[in-house]
Amino acid sequence: MSPARASRVPRHVAIIMDGNGRWARQRGWPRIRGHREGAESISAVLRVCEEVGIEVLTLYAFSVENWVRPREEVQALMSLLRRYLRQREHELHKRRVRLRAIGRLNDLPRTVRAELDRVVAATEHYGERQLVLALSYGGRAEIADAARRIAREVREGRLDPEAVNERVVAQHLYAPDLPDPDLVIRTSGELRLSNFLLWQISYAELYFTPVMWPDFREAEFRAALASYQGRRRRFGDIE
Ligand code: FPP
Repeated sequence: MSPARASRVPRHVAIIMDGNGRWARQRGWPRIRGHREGAESISAVLRVCEEVGIEVLTLYAFSVENWVRPREEVQALMSLLRRYLRQREHELHKRRVRLRAIGRLNDLPRTVRAELDRVVAATEHYGERQLVLALSYGGRAEIADAARRIAREVREGRLDPEAVNERVVAQHLYAPDLPDPDLVIRTSGELRLSNFLLWQISYAELYFTPVMWPDFREAEFRAALASYQGRRRRFGDIE
């Protein structure tokens, strides 16, 4: 691929929505209030995606490591997720957004899983825009899950081990049809990727902002997109 200025709109933006807890604590409020405000930021970002024509938005909503948080917080996050799915489904229909989920979805409580499956099925026919929720997600877990599935196919004689290459691995990831993210955003000032989409972000542009996720609204998202558009993407090539 030849070097290209990232002047076009990214096809796929992936976001690590960090800082909800700190945002709430700074105001003397319980952490869950930060998560609730964070859910509002999702709607703001979705509006901009529609306006500028971003096809895929992937959100790191719950990591495979987040299960170790205090039980009340995990329960509060799960019920927020279920409520969000129920109350915001109309927004997905209005914007013709297909909802998908990646991660170890079997880990989710039964009621959350049922709500998720229902909205995923109800929006399956929308083709232009997708909202992908990473739930009980870990990048290493995803690669390990892909390796296990490849190993099974080899054992069953359906795949030649010599044929395993990058394309085959990519085809066994959770959502193999999605384009790789062009831009990864992390809020709250942390400069880490925290096990997010490790395979898919090899060539992504990274954008870190000190803004906490509940404060990350239209203007902050537009600033991230402007930063992306000012960069040159070389994909291993020279200038
Ligand atoms: C990180 O903030 C955020 C999360 C672990 C959860 C993200 C969840 C939401 C934005 C709301 C619910 C999601 C949906 C899809 C409705 P943190 O708790 O790690 O904050 P901290 O680093 O300040 O403690």
